[in-house]
Amino acid sequence: MGQSIIIGSDHAAYELKEKIKSHLSEKGYAVEDAGTFGIESVNYADYGKKVANAVSKGEFPKGILLCGSGLGMSMAANRFKGVRAALCSDLFSAKMSRLHNDSNILVLGGRIIGDILAYELVDTWLATPFEGGRHQDRIASLDE
Ligand code: RB5
Repeated sequence: MGQSIIIGSDHAAYELKEKIKSHLSEKGYAVEDAGTFGIESVNYADYGKKVANAVSKGEFPKGILLCGSGLGMSMAANRFKGVRAALCSDLFSAKMSRLHNDSNILVLGGRIIGDILAYELVDTWLATPFEGGRHQDRIASLDE
């Protein structure tokens, strides 16, 4: 069994969430789906808070959030202690968010990126370790 990961989206990115779930399952991840479970209009914050809370409490080491732009989900998630949510639409940012910021939630804008780029972003983000060192104190100070 691979690592477990929690994922959530609103209606605007529901279809991309479903595709990313399949992608992750194929790679051996155990995926917990926090919703939403259809295309009916919902409040992104409800799902962002569920995922961020689970990561903040240590129930899951990492999470993925999606909404139309990724902005609302970022705002919701980054209010939680210990959460470092990174909104990424390019591979350099996805990589750096892990290397320097130890991001523990990847946020994607379903109305901005295509499926293939989304898979690449997820794979890059999951495969990149935190560099630690001088970055450890910097990320620790975010929660002070
Ligand atoms: C939904 O229309 C949209 O506002 C939402 O998906 C997200 O982009 C909010 O930031």
